[in-house]
Amino acid sequence: MEQNLDDSILEAPVINVIPPGPKSLKIIKEQEEYETSALNYPKYFKIAIDKALGSTVIDVDGNVYIDMVTGISVVNLGHNNPYIRRAVEEQLGKIWHSLEVPTEIRVNFSKKLLSTLGFKAKLLFTTTGADAVEAAVKIARWITGKKTIITFEGSYHGITAGTVGLTGANRYKNFTQFFDDRVAKFPYPYPYRCPFKDCLNEILDLIDYALSNPGYLGDDVAGILVEPIQGEGGYVVPPKGFLKGLREIADKYSIPLIVDEVQTGVGRTGKMWAYQWENIEPDIVCISKAIGEGIPVSMVAYRQDYDKLPIGFHLGTYRGNPLGLAAGLAALEFIEKYDILSRVQRLGNKIIKELSTVNNSHVGDIRGLGFMIGIELVKDGKNPWSEGTKKVIEEALKRGLLVYKAGRWDNVIRLMPPLTIPEILLDRALTILNDILNSL
Ligand SMILES: Cc1ncc(COP(=O)(O)O)c(C=O)c1O
Repeated sequence: MEQNLDDSILEAPVINVIPPGPKSLKIIKEQEEYETSALNYPKYFKIAIDKALGSTVIDVDGNVYIDMVTGISVVNLGHNNPYIRRAVEEQLGKIWHSLEVPTEIRVNFSKKLLSTLGFKAKLLFTTTGADAVEAAVKIARWITGKKTIITFEGSYHGITAGTVGLTGANRYKNFTQFFDDRVAKFPYPYPYRCPFKDCLNEILDLIDYALSNPGYLGDDVAGILVEPIQGEGGYVVPPKGFLKGLREIADKYSIPLIVDEVQTGVGRTGKMWAYQWENIEPDIVCISKAIGEGIPVSMVAYRQDYDKLPIGFHLGTYRGNPLGLAAGLAALEFIEKYDILSRVQRLGNKIIKELSTVNNSHVGDIRGLGFMIGIELVKDGKNPWSEGTKKVIEEALKRGLLVYKAGRWDNVIRLMPPLTIPEILLDRALTILNDILNSL
């Protein structure tokens, strides 16, 4: 039997009162009074949270949920992980904010992170995922002296005015997009919904053609920006060889390959970085979310020979927060110490296997890598069924399970449990989910 890796409440799920209970309702009402009506997540998770331990979340009415959301792949090592908490507490007693002036934690974190990447890199600290992506694009433009960035339909790289132009889905752009005249979007290989005969090579050939052709993109391209697995786009796993193919194209045209690991990184797919599944070396990597385990930090790692940026190239008051870096160093250590990557590979395969026993025509596709699993719901053949994901999220909540959605049509249930989830809770969660999916 494996030792417990987090402080989960092992009796979970425990539903004392069908959510939202009376205490939750009171707090929900107050939130509605004080905050913008534009909030998203409270529409799906109609509870008020008291606290969270490991892979479990406890609401103010005493219900205990198994968490397969992790704050969207942020708390990868479980809520309130004691190993990480200790590191943050130790840093709390030292310094919380230091601008770019070096601290021990800053250099220790940097050294450790760089040792995981598999190529010689330097770091530039940023604050959020979107900030990291913007900085990465700026670096690519600076290095090449060119402007156009290749991105992919269905991609998500952030919601700031700059990154939203790089983001695939139009719905994010209506009010915030200031420009995208220098963004060229290509199809992302989406095996379940691929309009091509050869979903891998035809897309790679198209990109190659665009780069080779002066009447298409010609030689103005500053880089290729790609998610190794699309996150918000629906946990879409491209065919093997996609990143390798992009690497070859980037080499052929001497442009940087920028890999956005904001959602896939820090062990989520069973490798520390998802690009490592393809044994490639990117030129630039965007890192955020789980590296801070809930404390907002992000960074860009770029090839060492790109290190010719001018002073003040990228700014931001809160870059490299010491508490976040303490959490990040502890997270990287924890993953190594407890061999989390092989655990995620082993249990990730088990999740897919268990879900594959579901027998319901609404379940169109089950896919994923490690603990990044998508279940695509359909109706009348392969038509996206977004009402279905809503139903599953609501029913799961009632039964004490937190799951969320993703996808171009909001029709993919995505599972992103803590990498530390006790197997007994994972099994229970899958039993509940299988039952819900079977009865759709
Ligand atoms: C792949 C990817 N890139 C960038 C971002 C943006 O990160 P943030 O929300 O921290 O700006 C996200 C957020 O979900 C993401 O999934």
